[in-house]
Amino acid sequence: MKVVVLCSGRGSNLSALLDAESRGELPDADFRAVLSDQEGAGALEIASKRGIAAITVPVSDFFGDRAGHERAILEALAPFGAELAVLAGFQRVLGRGFLDAFPHGVVNIHPALLPSFPGHMVWSKETAYGVKLAGATVHFVDEGVDSGPIICQGAVPVLETDGPDELSARILKVEHRIFPAAVGWVTSGRVSLSGRTSLLSGFSPGPGEVGACLVWPPLDA
Ligand code: GRF
Repeated sequence: MKVVVLCSGRGSNLSALLDAESRGELPDADFRAVLSDQEGAGALEIASKRGIAAITVPVSDFFGDRAGHERAILEALAPFGAELAVLAGFQRVLGRGFLDAFPHGVVNIHPALLPSFPGHMVWSKETAYGVKLAGATVHFVDEGVDSGPIICQGAVPVLETDGPDELSARILKVEHRIFPAAVGWVTSGRVSLSGRTSLLSGFSPGPGEVGACLVWPPLDA
């Protein structure tokens, strides 16, 4: 399946995807291009070093014109014929016209256990709220903010000594595990939807995993 990846920042989740592909774990994913809405995003350099087309469509050129920015992104991506778009730290909410351009949809990673803590600055909100369990969610994208059907979640404990930085570092590790796994499931056609519930076929759980759920570090039985 032809895949494009959209990023706004450093690109650690992009690296996790490309590393998994290099290890042969994503045999059905063909990463064609990486696009950023931010000039100088680290993700662009990561793509270039791997020989993947790296494109910038700066959001700053489209002030107040979200639809125009989305059209420009679709035009820039058109030559790559992508069937799936993957958002790896892409900080924009997307409209229906954009979402419908990808036959297999758009997938996002969010650093919280949705539907709790959608949006930005989740680690500060989680530590301030006092939650004991945090994590990350891979989900299909709809027109809302982090509100589409969930594909996979990974959970981590929140320690009493955690500030936002400690928590975000722990969550990022689980992001780097569940994101390639979920993208692999989607590209191999193993994810279907029943309403907004995703169904996963042909899955063999690893340590700490129960279906599309990962607890990290693994809980002892
Ligand atoms: C990650 O925390 C991801 O969950 C969120 O944006 C961040 C991107 O980080 N959507 P990176 O650019 O992948 O390192």
